[in-house]
Amino acid sequence: MCAAGDTLDTMSAPLRAAVIGLGSMGSNHARIYNDLPGVELAAVADPDRQRLERAAASRPVAMFDDYRVMLRETRPDLVSIVVPTGLHHRVALDVIEAGCNLLVEKPIAASIEQAHEVATAAAAAGVVLTVGHIERYNPAVQELKRRLAEGQGGRIIQLRARRVGPFPHRIRDVGVIHDLAPHDIDIMRHLLEDDVERVFAEAQGRINTDNEDIVAGVLHFNRGAMGVLDINWLTPMKERKLTVLAEKGMFVVDYPAQTLEFYENFAASAREGSIASVTEGPMTRYLIPNREPLRVELEAFRDAVLGQAPVQVTAEDGIAALATAEALVRSAGEHQPITVAPLVAGS
Ligand SMILES: NC(=O)c1ccc[n+]([C@@H]2O[C@H](COP(=O)([O-])OP(=O)(O)OC[C@H]3O[C@@H](n4cnc5c(N)ncnc54)[C@H](O)[C@@H]3O)[C@@H](O)[C@H]2O)c1
Repeated sequence: MCAAGDTLDTMSAPLRAAVIGLGSMGSNHARIYNDLPGVELAAVADPDRQRLERAAASRPVAMFDDYRVMLRETRPDLVSIVVPTGLHHRVALDVIEAGCNLLVEKPIAASIEQAHEVATAAAAAGVVLTVGHIERYNPAVQELKRRLAEGQGGRIIQLRARRVGPFPHRIRDVGVIHDLAPHDIDIMRHLLEDDVERVFAEAQGRINTDNEDIVAGVLHFNRGAMGVLDINWLTPMKERKLTVLAEKGMFVVDYPAQTLEFYENFAASAREGSIASVTEGPMTRYLIPNREPLRVELEAFRDAVLGQAPVQVTAEDGIAALATAEALVRSAGEHQPITVAPLVAGS
């Protein structure tokens, strides 16, 4: 077994990976580990026999219906936890206790208390913990981040995320805010390098009456930028888009298409810190080589475990996104703005 930061030669000693949960997302983790350089897929676990056999088809991989037996018998170096959100906490604590590095799918846990417990346990055990905020690894987002860092666009005024689609009947343990909003909250924090101060949300549960399935949310960031969330499971077409409105123009990311466009504010000969005027200017679409974001994510996890790169999405990032999601749920329930508690690292 490999503790965080051990240096292994990716050519001679592949890391041994395991996947816990082989549903619609976990089967993709297994597929990618199976041909990721420097990694071998050693084991998979799921109580569903059919899913186990499908994931192991044409691959020499050990199958387990109990993940605890798998941890004991195969002692993997790195583990993807891809079980329903309500189980993240229990499974993550068991994986940490076994001394394995872990990637927990988003959201990091079902509650902020559970998330803190997982983060604290991982830090104490000295294992790598990362969270599956997959949009960070979308090449269009990475290009946008690079351009913003170079100053293209100038100061950001507003970020707007639209993440809508049909109802996923398999998800019953959490609402759409916990399931989808962490993606957009995380990307907004990442691009702004800032934290959310307060939120306001309207939400409704039309199909899943235990939890909300549609939300309209507003985020206020510490340095003044605003975020707008339009997220639901009630739209009969799938759309995942981000617009970043800045003083010198507006970026548009289409996540699945991996495209990035820039609409220039032609009148942006503005003074620093204020917009003199806004007029329509030329639009540029950048050429971005496509890559599967999950593959980039698992490469980053591998590199962090090898000690060759820092963890890109930290436990703190997972906790911050979840804390904001929880504030949105509370705001919708209480019909008032909610201040997001500042993140205390390691608490
Ligand atoms: N990053 C992303 O874009 C993305 C996309 C989809 C799902 N997810 C996350 O992945 C997780 C799983 O979602 P999904 O859509 O694949 O769900 P799913 O219902 O399709 O799959 C869950 C799987 O976990 C298995 N499971 C349940 N209990 C288990 C246990 N004790 N041990 C081992 N396996 C167990 C189930 O049998 C099932 O095969 C969720 O946390 C979800 O938020 C992330």
